[in-house]
Amino acid sequence: MAMGFSLPCLVIFFFCVSVLRVQAPFVYHGFNNSGLDLDQGAFIEPSGLLRLTDSSQYVIGRAFHPIAQPMFDINSETVSDVSSFSTSFVFAIVPSSSGPPVGYGLAFVMAPSTQFPGAASEHYLGLFNSSNNGDPSNHIFAVEFDTVNGHDDEKNFKGNHVGINKNGVRSSASESAEYSDYGSDVKTEVYLDTGDLIQAWIDYDGRSKLVNVTIAPANVIRPTEPLISYSINLTPVLNEMMYVGFSASTGKETSFHYISGWSFAINESAPQLNVHQLPPPLKVQSPLPSSSTFNPLVTVVVPILSAITLMGILFLASIFRRRFRGENLEEWERDCPHRFGYRDLYKATKGFKDSELIGSGGFGSVYRGVLPSTGCEVAVKRITRNASQGMREFAAEIESLGRLRHKNLVNLQGWCKKQNDLLLVYDYIPNGSLDSLLYHPKDNFVLNWEQRINILKGVAGGLLYLHEEWEQVVIHRDVKPSNILIDISMNARLSDFGLARLYDHDQISHTTSVVGTIGYISPELARTGKASKTTDVFAYGVLILEVACGRRPLESDIFILVDWVMECHEKGRILDAADPKLNEIYDTVEMEMVLKLGLLCSHYNPEARPSMRQVTRFLNGEDQILAFDPSPYSQITFQSSSGFTQFIPPSSRTSTTSFLSSTSIDVGR
Ligand SMILES: *[C@@H]1O[C@H](CO)[C@@H](O)[C@H](O)[C@H]1NC(C)=O
Ligand SMILES: *[C@@H]1O[C@H](CO)[C@@H](O)[C@H](O)[C@H]1NC(C)=O
Ligand SMILES: *[C@@H]1O[C@H](CO)[C@@H](O)[C@H](O)[C@H]1NC(C)=O
Ligand SMILES: *[C@@H]1O[C@H](CO)[C@@H](O)[C@H](O)[C@H]1NC(C)=O
Repeated sequence: MAMGFSLPCLVIFFFCVSVLRVQAPFVYHGFNNSGLDLDQGAFIEPSGLLRLTDSSQYVIGRAFHPIAQPMFDINSETVSDVSSFSTSFVFAIVPSSSGPPVGYGLAFVMAPSTQFPGAASEHYLGLFNSSNNGDPSNHIFAVEFDTVNGHDDEKNFKGNHVGINKNGVRSSASESAEYSDYGSDVKTEVYLDTGDLIQAWIDYDGRSKLVNVTIAPANVIRPTEPLISYSINLTPVLNEMMYVGFSASTGKETSFHYISGWSFAINESAPQLNVHQLPPPLKVQSPLPSSSTFNPLVTVVVPILSAITLMGILFLASIFRRRFRGENLEEWERDCPHRFGYRDLYKATKGFKDSELIGSGGFGSVYRGVLPSTGCEVAVKRITRNASQGMREFAAEIESLGRLRHKNLVNLQGWCKKQNDLLLVYDYIPNGSLDSLLYHPKDNFVLNWEQRINILKGVAGGLLYLHEEWEQVVIHRDVKPSNILIDISMNARLSDFGLARLYDHDQISHTTSVVGTIGYISPELARTGKASKTTDVFAYGVLILEVACGRRPLESDIFILVDWVMECHEKGRILDAADPKLNEIYDTVEMEMVLKLGLLCSHYNPEARPSMRQVTRFLNGEDQILAFDPSPYSQITFQSSSGFTQFIPPSSRTSTTSFLSSTSIDVGR
C-alpha cells in the first residue's frame, strides 16, 4: 500500500495536513469539514451537527480539535503560568425516547492526549475510571454539564448542574444550571436535557486564576453574571500542550449529546458564535421533555420553590422595571424553539422606535431590527392581542409556522411574547413589497415583464407549498401585493402566511369575521367566512391581473379590475389590459395566457378556479389554456392541453354583481 504513494497523493496528504493545522483562535458553525478528531461513538451528521452519543447504552463519544494548543508561554525561559483561554459552544441534550431518565451529560475537556485507554462511561464521562479518578497525573481539566445525580461518593447533589472538574469526576465547584437575563439578577433554571440549544462560555484568566462558566439558552444574550466564578490555579493541572474538545457518555439511561458550534481562543475572548448559522439538533420524540433526575426533592420541591421565587421576584421586577415586565416563562413556552428574549428584540428595534418602522398591516406593525447578539438584520412584527386565552394553541401554531421552509416564503425565525404583545421575527427582505414596487417605485423604476412573470411564478410556488406540499394545509388568507416581499434577486417571498389561522384560536367560533382585504375576498368567502385553498386562488387571480395590468383591484366605485379585463377579453382585445408602463415589451402569447389565467383564478365560482398546481403548470408552459370562453350565463368549458375539461359557469363579471344582489347561487362546498 505504501509503495503506491505517488507524488499527487503526497501533495494531497500535505494539503490536508496543512488545512487541519488550525491553531487557536478557531470557530466552527457546524462541523462540516472540520477535521475534528472523533473517537468511539462520535459522529458528524450530514447537517454539520456533531453527535457525541446516540441512544446506545454505555457508550462514549469524544471529539477533539486535532491540534494541541500551547497553554504556556513557549518562549519563556522561566516557569510561567497557564495562559488565559476562552471558549464558547452551543450544545443540546436530547433524551432518547426510552423515558425520562437521561444519561449522562457532556463535558468540555482539556487533556494532554486524545486517547483515554480504559476510561469508563456513565458518570466517568468517557474520561476517567474508578482507578485513576482524581489522580493528579491525569492532567485533565473539564467543565461538565451533567443531567444525572453524581455518583454516591460525590458531592454533586443533583442532576441538571454544571461543574468544574480537575483530574476526576468530583467537581471542585458546581452549581445547578441557571442563568439570569442580560442586566438582570433574576435566575431562571436552564433545563439541560430538553433538546433546546444551550450556549456555554468558559473563560479562564491566567493572571487572576479565575475561571468563569456561563450558560444561557442559545437565543438569549450572554448574561452579564457568570453562573460559576471559581478560583482555581490551572498551572499545575495543565500540560504545556493540551488538546481541547468534548466528551459525553451514556449508561443504562441514554441521551443524544450534540454540539452544533464551538469557538476557542488563547489570550483573547473566544470568537462569537452566530446562533442562526448553527445546524439545529433533531428533536427526538420524547414523551417528557422536562428535567429529570432520580431525586424527588429535585423534581418536585425545587421547581415549585423556584417557581415561587421567580413569581415573587417577577412581581417585584414588575414594579421596578415596567419596561421589561412580563417575560416570565411558562412551562410550555420552554418547549417551543426559536424563542427570542424580549430585551434582544427591544434593543434590535431601538425600543420599537418609529424610525425603524417598515410597515404596518392588518396584523400589526413591522420593525426593522439588528439583533445585538449576532448582528443579523431581521424584521420584527409586533402583534397586539387581547387575550391570554388559547396561548398554548397559539404557541403550537407558531411552532408549526416556524417549521415552514420554502424559497418563496419569508422565514419565521422565531418569536417572543410579552404580556399581550406577540413578536414574530422574520428574515429581513431588503427590496420592500411588490405593492411598493408596482405602485410607489423609487426613481420611476418599472418592473419588466420577465421580473413580473418570475414574481408570479414565485408566489404560485409559495402558495403551492402552503396548500399541497407541506405536512398540513396552510391557507394564506391575505394574498396581496403588500404581503409579497421582493428579495435581492427579485424573487417573491410570501409573508404573513398562516397568521389568520393564529387569529382563529383567539376567536369564539360564532363571531367569525372575515380576514382578508377588500378586492381580494372571493364571493363565497364574503358570504360564508370560510377560507379555503380556492379563496386563496381567487386572491392570487386578482394579484395576477394587478401585476399584468399595473392597476389596483378597485380604483374607484366604478373601476373593478376583474370586470375591466373581462370587458377587454369580450371585445377580443385582452391585450389592451396590459400595463402601458411595459411599453408593449412582452411576449404577447405569455401576456394573454397570464391575463386569462388571472380571470380564471378570480372566477366567482370556486369550482371553476384551477388549483395552485394547475396554475403552476400553466405558468411554466407545461400546460396550456386551449379553450377559454367566458360568455356570461353560458355554460362554457376551458380546456387545457393535458386534456382535462372543466365546467365553467357564468363569467366573473356577472358574478361580481350577482353575488352582491343574490344569495341564490349555491357556492357552498
Ligand atoms: C454541511 O453540509 C450539509 C450537506 O453537505 C449542508 O446541508 C449543511 O448546510 C452544511 N452546514 C454548514 C454549516 O455549512
Ligand atoms: C498569552 O499571554 C501571556 C502574557 O502576555 C504570554 O506570556 C503568553 O505567551 C501568551 N500565550 C500564548 C499561547 O500566546
Ligand atoms: C483506568 O485508566 C487507566 C488510564 O487511562 C488505565 O491504565 C487503566 O487500565 C484503567 N483501569 C481500568 C480498571 O480500566
Ligand atoms: C469572571 O467573572 C467576574 C465576575 O463577574 C469578573 O469580574 C471577571 O472579570 C470574569 N473573568 C473572566 C476571565 O471573564
